[in-house]
Amino acid sequence: MIIKPNVAEALNTQTTNEFTNMFAYLVISAYFDDQGLPELAAFFLRQSEDERLHAMKIFDFLLETGAKPTLTGTPPVQNDFVNAEAAVQYALDQELKTTGQINDLVSIALAADDHTTHNFLQWFVTEQVEEVDTMTRLLQTVRHAQGNLLRVEDYVLRNMPAIVGAEAGV
Ligand SMILES: [Fe+2]
Ligand SMILES: [Fe+2]
Repeated sequence: MIIKPNVAEALNTQTTNEFTNMFAYLVISAYFDDQGLPELAAFFLRQSEDERLHAMKIFDFLLETGAKPTLTGTPPVQNDFVNAEAAVQYALDQELKTTGQINDLVSIALAADDHTTHNFLQWFVTEQVEEVDTMTRLLQTVRHAQGNLLRVEDYVLRNMPAIVGAEAGV
């Protein structure tokens, strides 16, 4: 094992966090599907799959470095939303929380002089800039639409990449 036990433990926790995001976005996708908004439903389904890929990226890194991955159950995610804005706000909150988690992980790796993990984490540092930006812009669009969610559907169709995993490089 070429990474330290406390770093491996923190990475395991982040695997769980990414799976939590996977479930959160799956539920949001179901919410929009239920509302008859297929583009938003498809967008969050792709986001959910991206989160699964994030989790697997860390899972594979743990395997590669000889640190045995361990999985715990994910904490509950929000299942009910009063409106579209609340659902997207929840997604943005998740991304901001994830950004903090990644920052903390980088600090743990640096404190352990673990340049292997530090280097690995840079992909996530960059990814979070895009994730937060994407959700921020979507939230702004929902607000501008003032209840006309068909305009948000059009925005998602025109602006959101449709290829799952393209960003994850898989
Ligand atoms: Fe993620
Ligand atoms: Fe994300």
